[in-house]
Amino acid sequence: MTKVLSAVAWPYANGPRHIGHVAGFGVPSDVFSRYMRMSGHDVLMVSGTDEHGTPILVAADQAGVTPRELADVNNRIIVEDLVNLGLSYDLFTRTTTRHHYAVVQELFRQVHANGYMIEQTTYGAISPSTGRTLPDRYIEGTCPICGATDARGDQCDSCGNQLDPTDLINPKSRINGETPKFVESQHFFLDLPALADALAGWLGEREADGSWRPNVIRFSQGLLKDMKPRAMTRDIDWGIPIPLDGWRDQPGKRLYVWFDAVIGYLSASIEWARRTGDPERWREWWNDPAAVSYYFQGKDNITFHSQIWPAELLGSMGRGDKGGTPGVFGELNLPTEVVASEFMTMEGKQFSSSRGVVIYVRDMLSRYQPDALRYFICAAGPESSDSDFTWAEFVTRTNSELVAGWGNLVNRTATMIAKNFGEIPACGPLEAGDEEVLTAVRGGFDVVGDLIGRHRQRAAIAEAMRLVGEVNAYISRTEPFKLKSADQRERLGTILHVVAQCVADLNVMLSPFLPHSSNQVHRALGGDGTLTPMPRIEEVTDFDDEVEGIDGQLHTYPIITGDYTGPHGFRNWASTPIVVGTPVAKPSPIFTKLDPSVVEEETARLRGDVTDGAPA
Ligand code: MF3
Ligand code: ZN
Repeated sequence: MTKVLSAVAWPYANGPRHIGHVAGFGVPSDVFSRYMRMSGHDVLMVSGTDEHGTPILVAADQAGVTPRELADVNNRIIVEDLVNLGLSYDLFTRTTTRHHYAVVQELFRQVHANGYMIEQTTYGAISPSTGRTLPDRYIEGTCPICGATDARGDQCDSCGNQLDPTDLINPKSRINGETPKFVESQHFFLDLPALADALAGWLGEREADGSWRPNVIRFSQGLLKDMKPRAMTRDIDWGIPIPLDGWRDQPGKRLYVWFDAVIGYLSASIEWARRTGDPERWREWWNDPAAVSYYFQGKDNITFHSQIWPAELLGSMGRGDKGGTPGVFGELNLPTEVVASEFMTMEGKQFSSSRGVVIYVRDMLSRYQPDALRYFICAAGPESSDSDFTWAEFVTRTNSELVAGWGNLVNRTATMIAKNFGEIPACGPLEAGDEEVLTAVRGGFDVVGDLIGRHRQRAAIAEAMRLVGEVNAYISRTEPFKLKSADQRERLGTILHVVAQCVADLNVMLSPFLPHSSNQVHRALGGDGTLTPMPRIEEVTDFDDEVEGIDGQLHTYPIITGDYTGPHGFRNWASTPIVVGTPVAKPSPIFTKLDPSVVEEETARLRGDVTDGAPA
């Protein structure tokens, strides 16, 4: 039994999240975490909303509210969406808590004390017409590395490299097109060159392990070639104050959003422990070298998880060229694996809220079953190459795989049992074909589990669905619906018993992917519908922690949490014998068949022909 940290990328709170986001970080991390719990590991799954930085500031300005107010609204929307999708976070919190501020400042002080935060003079961009600082990502120009003409001041989306605004060739303001003026400004830089050997040592071990996706390890190794100090502070007034004399009281200087966001994995783990009443318990996942950690995200996040975050950790422990010592957090584990997915597009185009090429999680869940979306993401998501969401494929997969495959198997099984016996029938002597199908399905636990453990969820769900097909074929072969006479009754009972056992096993196997319907299937076979634990929302109050440079009140906010250990849904990744005599009633269908007109309707909505109040 291993301690497993599921570290899930923190969604920005600058707006509601769309299905491309949850395909990248959300559903894959949940499937993995659910499976790991079921196979006996101690999982700690943490995340939250990422609420600092320029995008939120700009969105708040546009809406005429404070960044905090904007973040409050979006945090709540995101929390509700993720809960409705069934994502089983142990803690989903936010980066604007006093607790997070305190942890971030502590880690900064330690990295600084160890000598890995170096002060340098830089040139910051300001708008010549307004005199306001111009945030990095609001400057665009030509990428000095790949020559793309639409690179931003913080990052080039074409080649994925991080940039500084002064690197851009021919920089322009994206707000009004003027050429920014660069003025002198003092900032703290993370001394990546002094941490390069330590980073290379860690990545070398990870590469030797061979488990990372090829694209991800290649990209991460590539980052080692260009190790320059990186600015970890910004000229911005929304963010965490810099906890040093002469800095903490400057309202226009704050820590860089990515510096604080990645520390969220640690701060959320500590917050979780504090809220469970065992405040040191997080150390089992962070200080014990036997613990493992998996970081789930889209590919645009790789730099921050395989370079910046490990560098922050190494610097805080004094493990670079300049030496140093660990602080109060002790020796912290570096990521075991950065599990990055590729991108999902929508009807062949990049998701874009401003251009209306988007479907928000909330809208999707208001019209379709959460497990239909989860099924699509698991079966056809951007796991290791880009993938496209189309309404036509969504309808086809829902109807021909979920409804006609799995749903139909459950439905006819429960219907035949209800009609002929009203309860799970006894099992008579087994024929070879019966043994065969039972063994095939039981074998799925190893095959499907191994694939999920290696982050190959598309193959994993395909294997589970192949077994669904085998059981459907077994029914067609044995034709239980033709066994009507009294002397065939024992054989009828045996076949239905075998099928019910297969359905029960497959339901356990599919439950990490389809948690909502797994509980309905559990009920359809006479269970209490609590096979698979589900997350819940709780309202909590901020801890009254000491934070430098900030006073202000304590907030209450919603968190996602849950008890994922019982009554059935823990350490149950195995075949469990069904109980003869359990009452089974006529079922109602579990999955909703979609009318083909959905395709036309939704495409019209995308074109803007239908408006339903979705945020722009
Ligand atoms: N908010 C970032 C994004 O959506 C992800 C942050 S992951 C974190 O791309 F770890 F830094 F929080
Ligand atoms: Zn580039």
